[in-house]
Amino acid sequence: MKCIKSISGMKNFSRMQHSQGFKIGFVPTMGYLHKGHLSLVEIAKRNADKVVVSIFVNPTQFGPNEDLDRYPRNINRDKKILSGMGVDALFLPSKKMMYPEGYLTYVEVERLSKILCGASRPKHFRGVTTVVLKLFNIIEPDIAVFGEKDYQQAVIIKRMVSDLNLNVRIFTGKIVREDDGIAMSSRNTYLSSDERKRAAVLYKSLLLAKDLVKSGEKNCKKIKNRMKKLIKSEGGKIDYVEIVHSESLESLLSIEDKARAVVAVWIGKTRLIDNMQLK
Ligand code: PAF
Repeated sequence: MKCIKSISGMKNFSRMQHSQGFKIGFVPTMGYLHKGHLSLVEIAKRNADKVVVSIFVNPTQFGPNEDLDRYPRNINRDKKILSGMGVDALFLPSKKMMYPEGYLTYVEVERLSKILCGASRPKHFRGVTTVVLKLFNIIEPDIAVFGEKDYQQAVIIKRMVSDLNLNVRIFTGKIVREDDGIAMSSRNTYLSSDERKRAAVLYKSLLLAKDLVKSGEKNCKKIKNRMKKLIKSEGGKIDYVEIVHSESLESLLSIEDKARAVVAVWIGKTRLIDNMQLK
C-alpha cells in the first residue's frame, strides 16, 4: 500500500491509475478504523479496480466545543489494517495542506445541512461537504463509499454530487453493529463501561419503532413518544428523535414506505447517532 502525504502525489497516483484504465474506489475516513469502515472498503474493492482510503480528522466539521482534540487516533494500527485488506493507496493530508493560510472557500448543501444534526451542529455539514469535495477533486474517484450510520451525511453528499454534476457514483454501506446492537463508531471509545451498556438504548428505541410499525401503528408522534420514553428510562439525553422521509429527510406525520427513524442522544458527555428504515 502506498502512503501518500502530498496533494500532488495523490493526483499523480490517480491519474496514473486512470491512464491505465483502472476505476478508482474511494473511502474517506477520519481514521481509528473499525469494522464499519472495513465494510466500506470491501464495497469499494467489489466495485472498483483500485482502492484509495483517506484519513484526515477534518477540523472544519467540528464546532468550537466539540471533540476535535480528543478525537481518537492510531495511524500505525490503521495502516496495518488497510494494507492487510489490499488497499492500494492511503492518502494522509495535513491540516495545513488542506486548509492553507488564507483559506476562504466552503460548499454548503442548503436546508438539508440545517436540520437534525445540523440544528445542534450548525457548521458541521458545511465542513463535511467542503472536505469531501476537496478530496473528490484531488483523488478523482469513480465511486465513493459512505456509511449509513451517518445517514444524513450520506443524503447530503448525494445531493451535492447531483447538484454540482460531479463525476462520482456514491455507494452506501449498511450499519455494522456490535453484539448488543450499538452501531460501530470511533466515538464509542469515549463511553465508560456503564455508559457503553446504556448506549444500546439507541438501537433498542429504533427496534421499538420498527415493532410498533409492524404491529400497525402509523402515527409518528405516538411512535416517537414511545421511543423518547425508552431512551430517557436509560438516562439518555435526547438531542432529537425523528421519523423522516429517507430521501428528503422531511419530518413525517404518518408512516409511509420510505419512513426512517433517526436519533441523536447524549449518553453522558458523548453524543451518539443511529437510524433505521422502518418498513
Ligand atoms: O464520516 C466521516 O468520517 C467524515 O465525516 C468524512 C466523510 C471522512 C469527512 O471528514
